[in-house]
Formats: sequence, structure tokens, C-alpha cells
Amino acid sequence: KKVVLAYSGGLDTSVILKWLIETHDCEVITFSADIGQEEELDYIDDKARATGATGVYIDDLKEEFVKEYVFPAFRANAIYEGQYLLGTSLARPLIAKRQIEIAVAEGADAVSHGATGKGNDQVRFELTYFALKPDIRIVAPWREWDLKSRTALMDFAVKHGIPVPTTPAKPYSTDRNLLHISYEGGILEDPWNPPSDDMFTLSVSPRQAPDEPEIVDIAFEQGNPVSINGQAMSPANLLAALNKLGGKHGIGRADIVENRFVGMKSRGVYETPGGTILRAAHMAMESITMDREVMHLRDSLIPRYAEMIYYGFWFSPEMKVMQQMIDQTQVYVSGEVRLELYKGNSRVLGRRSDNSLYSADFATFEDDSVYHQKDAEGFIRLNALRLRLHALLGR
Ligand code: ARG
Ligand code: SIN
Repeated sequence: KKVVLAYSGGLDTSVILKWLIETHDCEVITFSADIGQEEELDYIDDKARATGATGVYIDDLKEEFVKEYVFPAFRANAIYEGQYLLGTSLARPLIAKRQIEIAVAEGADAVSHGATGKGNDQVRFELTYFALKPDIRIVAPWREWDLKSRTALMDFAVKHGIPVPTTPAKPYSTDRNLLHISYEGGILEDPWNPPSDDMFTLSVSPRQAPDEPEIVDIAFEQGNPVSINGQAMSPANLLAALNKLGGKHGIGRADIVENRFVGMKSRGVYETPGGTILRAAHMAMESITMDREVMHLRDSLIPRYAEMIYYGFWFSPEMKVMQQMIDQTQVYVSGEVRLELYKGNSRVLGRRSDNSLYSADFATFEDDSVYHQKDAEGFIRLNALRLRLHALLGR
């Protein structure tokens, strides 16, 4: 029996690695992805093998993550419950997809992950596993074992010669990638407790941000950002550059209570500096390049689209249909947006495009060949017909 484990090198997944070998009597291959979490990956090979792994995969998936997962969602302006830019939700299907590829290449019959039985992440991992390999076996240790506390994990680690962290555990749980950092649980569980300022990693407090605003130009091609201030960049480099800019100006913090797919409400604090700028810029780009009805139709579907991503249905037939439709709306979304970054805000200063639908002729109503003001009278009278009938009947 062979298992491919999504492995971070931390305490939890190290314990899982050893526990799989011990209790499931199997060979374990670890997989670690670099998706911009800024953790040292160099030591992972040694650590995984020292803990018993017979194979180790470490893949840099940063460009794939941003190009194939983040950008498609941002082409849609996707947002969950009006506030969450889906940083973790977008990363899970990529990690799971690569895990399945490795399982196939290695002839493994099972995969495993370190997500708990109470969260969204288990669903996202496992829906992806099943969507891509319907006969895969899944081992979810957190739903199986009786190591219910950090102390129990530490004891297990010590007993099995796994190095335990020397620094005390953070009083909350975090998940980081190129799009965001999330903070949940622990001292954040009381939704009345504000996070302490020293928790934040990617951004300064807007109160500490520079007193001078900074102007930034973002160019788009077919809904994707392609350059910053005239400098072309790869997707991952572009998002990293926006994170720097946004973080410096205190942009992209959110403190929310969200509805998890499994049913409970959960308090989460997020830093998404680059994504927050990008979403504002993208909407401004659309504002001059997108047809009104196309935009309104697309907008009406975004809560559902964001829900699909949040719930873990990235690889699903409904998602495929939605993404094709969204991408079709982006064909003319090209041009430039200029923003001002200042103390937590990204304010749009200007937008321009060769595909602009914004016509000075139309807007100033001077050219009688395209707009006859008299036409508006009939337009309004016909639209008022129902309203007048209601009024006549005294309703
Ligand atoms: N609540 C967010 C989501 O469901 C973030 C989850 C963070 N996951 C984690 N393992 N810390 O997408
Ligand atoms: C977890 O439970 O593993 C993290 C939280 C979540 O998945 O929502």
C-alpha cells in the first residue's frame, strides 16, 4: 500500500506521516507545493525522509497557481459573502490535483491530507481527489485518530523522534499563499475580540501607512493583469509586486464571520493586499469595456460562482460552464487603469482602452445621429404603462 501525503513539514503533517506508516502500515510519499507561503522548503526532503517517507516531491506551483486559479477567479471579480477573496479556497484544488498526478505516477492507491474534520479544506481536497480519480482511497487522519490536542500531537512526536517546534504555537491558525494569509481559531474565535496589530504579516496598519499616496498603473489583456507601471511581469511576479505595494499602504485587510460549507459560522481575518488592488482595477477596466447586460448577467452569477469555489467544486461540470462564460465576457477587457494607493484604500483615478464603449459623443448627447432625445419620451411612456395601470386600479 502506498499513500501520497500533502506535507508541509510542520508538526501536524510530520505526525501524520509517522502515524500513516504505523497505523496504516503503508509506504508514504510526501508532496509539498511552493504556492508562495514563504516557508523554507530546503529542509523538507531531509525531514520527510528522516520521518520515514520513501519518496519526496517538492514542486514550485506559484505561476500555475496565479495563472490558472487566481486569475480566472479575478476575471470574474469573485468574492464570497461580499468580503472573502477566496485565497485558501483557490489553492486547495491545485494542491489536490498535483497530489493525484503524483499518486498516478507512483502507482499509489491512496492520498492523505492534514485538514481537520470541521473545516472547508477537507471538502476541497477530497472533492478534487474524487473528481480527478474516482477510485482513489482517502485517509483523513484528523477524522480517524484520537490525537485531539496539541499536547497529544507533541507527545506522539516526542515518542517517535520527530523534532517538535521550539517556538510556542501561534494563538491562531494561519494559511498563507501568494494571494493571501488567513488567520482563524484560537484567540480569534470570539468574534468580539479584535486581532492584535502584531498579528498582521503582509500589511502595515492603515494608521501606520505612508502619508504620501502612491500612483500605480495596471495594464490588462483580456481580463488578466499583464504589467505594472509599464513593466510586463509573469502572473506570480505581478501578484507579488501588488502585494508589496498594497502591504506598504495598508490595503486588503478583512475581518469577517463567514459561513463554512460544513455548516458552522467561522471568524476569519485575512490579508489580501495585491488581490484587493487587482479586483478594484479589474472592475474599473470592465466599466469602460463591457456591455451593460453582459456585465449585469455575469454579476448576477458571481455569488454562485464564488460559492462553487468556496465549497470546493473547482473541478466540476458547473464550474467549467461558468468559467467559459466568464472568459467569454473578458475578450474586450483590455487597457489601463490608474490607481492611487493611500492608507488602506485603492482609489481609481483613471481608465482607458482601445476597446472602450464609453463614447464622448453618446455621453454628451450632442450628436443627433446616434441619440434622439425625443425617443426617450416613448421609451419612458412604454415603461411606465404597467405603473400607470397599477395606479389607475388604486393598487
Ligand atoms: N476560512 C477560509 C476558507 O475556508 C480559510 C481557511 C484556512 N485554512 C487553514 N487550514 N488554516 O477558505
Ligand atoms: C481546517 O479545519 O483544516 C482549517 C479550516 C477550514 O478548512 O475551513
